[in-house]
Amino acid sequence: MSAIDAVVGVIYLGAAVTFVFGLHLMRSPATARRGNLVSASGMTAAILATVVFVATGQEGLHVSPWGWGALLAGTAVGAAAGLVGARGVQMTAMPQLVSLFNAVGGGAAALVAAVETLHVVGRLAAERPDAAFTVPVGLDVLIGAVTFSGSLIAAGKLQGWISGAPIAFTGSRIATAASAVLGLGSVVWLVVAPGVWPLAALAVGATAFGILMVLPIGGADMPVVVSLLNAFTGLAVAMAGFVVGNEILIIAGALVGASGAILTKLMADAMNRSVLSIMVGGFGTGDAPAGDTVVSAAAEVRRTDPDDVALQLAYAQKVIIVPGYGLAAAQAQREAGELGSALADRGITVYYAIHPVAGRMPGHMNVLLAEADVPYDQLIEMEDVNPEFDTCDVALVVGANDVTNPAARRPGNAISGMPILDVDKARSIIVIKRSLGHGYAGLDNELYGNAKTGMLFADAKKGLAQILAAMKEYAS
Ligand code: TAP
Repeated sequence: MSAIDAVVGVIYLGAAVTFVFGLHLMRSPATARRGNLVSASGMTAAILATVVFVATGQEGLHVSPWGWGALLAGTAVGAAAGLVGARGVQMTAMPQLVSLFNAVGGGAAALVAAVETLHVVGRLAAERPDAAFTVPVGLDVLIGAVTFSGSLIAAGKLQGWISGAPIAFTGSRIATAASAVLGLGSVVWLVVAPGVWPLAALAVGATAFGILMVLPIGGADMPVVVSLLNAFTGLAVAMAGFVVGNEILIIAGALVGASGAILTKLMADAMNRSVLSIMVGGFGTGDAPAGDTVVSAAAEVRRTDPDDVALQLAYAQKVIIVPGYGLAAAQAQREAGELGSALADRGITVYYAIHPVAGRMPGHMNVLLAEADVPYDQLIEMEDVNPEFDTCDVALVVGANDVTNPAARRPGNAISGMPILDVDKARSIIVIKRSLGHGYAGLDNELYGNAKTGMLFADAKKGLAQILAAMKEYAS
């Protein structure tokens, strides 16, 4: 082993430590940003070490000037696209950006395996590559191609380029099964008789399966699908690591695969659904069966206005703000943060109740409220905040719907069993939303008909701004 080889090994080990430590820091909103930086610096060091490894011709590697040109151009284009995309994206469009990143990750991993196969098959025409090479190649192309095409469809659905409704056609299930058989069969074919044809059949089968798997899933279920595809990206990258014999790819891929799988499970649990039922589709499409319609559009609800809300808040001792998807859609995080700090300034105890699947992506509410500089100790997770509602004077629900719906406590409807925020236990409830319209699950919310509830029909941003203005008037 050369000195450079040894140094690169040590840098890889250090990078692996930063990945694990970075993930650990991402467990809390207060340290998540630092976690990202720690892991990213580890990855930068690993990339630089790999470049040095290749440039110094270790293990007989040689890159032509054209090869270096292609590497540099690819790095520049990829880095610029990633930077511009990530900086410019709206928080509400984050799931589709993550999905695009998954697509390029899975696609790149599959291409690495495909290129290696073409090299090896060409070089070893007389000597067949063994299963230690062909099995990871087969799995890499299979998982990578499924991730690539599935993620593109998911991003298209989330962005509205493809209908968010489940898309099925006559014989679509048979086509899905056939593509799965072609993909899996080609992996076996590749292992038994490595060559270009099984590789091509595998790529076609897996790509078709990715498309056919995601098309029938409702647009609103996409965040769970994106999380699952994220886990697939990790697996594909780990397989690429086995194919090219690079430890850091194996470690990074395994960590992404494991954390993506855990996140998928957590999201599915928080929605009280199995990952399988999500993949089979038909939920969260906006046309889900309404089940028991407790509050119809014509039902009696008590309306309130910003002045009245400001007065109630001013006399409260404990206020719990419950943010939901509507807060994100209205980009009302700043106003929510300002209202919380105005109340805290008056000596009122303020919490923000964070439901694990409020909004449309994991950590949605944490990210938005952190962006608005809400102190982290005011962000309280569901299990910890639920006991607080009993002694809460005002629960202020801002654009949240399903995660507050008491119907979840009863069987027989689309959200039965989903853990909810116990908003109905508060002494007084205020709901800011534009109408009696449904949330993601397509259900009426019986909280709105509760005698303790006052409905402030407004866009979240405007409604909160009006409440703030009214509070300032009282104070002056
Ligand atoms: P939802 O139940 O989707 O309700 C959001 C509400 O926001 C709607 O009823 C809508 O009512 C209101 N709204 C929309 N735009 C608004 C605006 N500009 N101003 C004020 N209100 C506005 O949201 P939730 O309570 O956050 O629940 C999230 C749902 O998404 C859950 O069912 C969850 O399972 C699902 N989901 C979440 C995730 C993750 S990981 N977070 C992933 C997949 C699915 P109006 O139209 O009347 O205003």
